[in-house]
Amino acid sequence: MNDQKKEGRYQRIFLQLEELLKKTEDPLARMASICAVLHHKMDHFFWTGFYLYKEGKLIVGPYQGPVACQELEKDKGVCWAAANSGSPVVVPDVHAFPGHIACDSRSKSEITLPVFDRKGAIKAVFDVDSDHTDSFNEMDQRSLEAILELIFL
Ligand code: SME
Repeated sequence: MNDQKKEGRYQRIFLQLEELLKKTEDPLARMASICAVLHHKMDHFFWTGFYLYKEGKLIVGPYQGPVACQELEKDKGVCWAAANSGSPVVVPDVHAFPGHIACDSRSKSEITLPVFDRKGAIKAVFDVDSDHTDSFNEMDQRSLEAILELIFL
């Protein structure tokens, strides 16, 4: 899928989720809906989910895709890189990322984004794995950031 087509799809997903998430303010329910919609509508989203930030740990939360690691080893891998820096991380080739945690060997590229509450405290990391290399760029980052802002609206 080219970038223009993908961006259009993200925009339609955003509008769909904006409506859907009005039904409850519960962040876990909102996260679950975000994973389900994105996972089934975006090509190459092989694993789509949240790691919840709890008491200094990253514990798996709502997700779609193959079974994932329950808890991520502290300060290791792509999710922790996003949590510790407070910024999204795009990894075109997971094998080239030192410390990458492989929950499933079919994952080839990855994007992780921190999720903050209204006070700016980190609450989760959103993680998408693709079974193709180089699946994510700044457009994915921007589009996913807009979607994630719906969680704590
Ligand atoms: N690859 C992630 C771990 C989570 S799984 O991909 C679902 C990481 O390096 O943090």
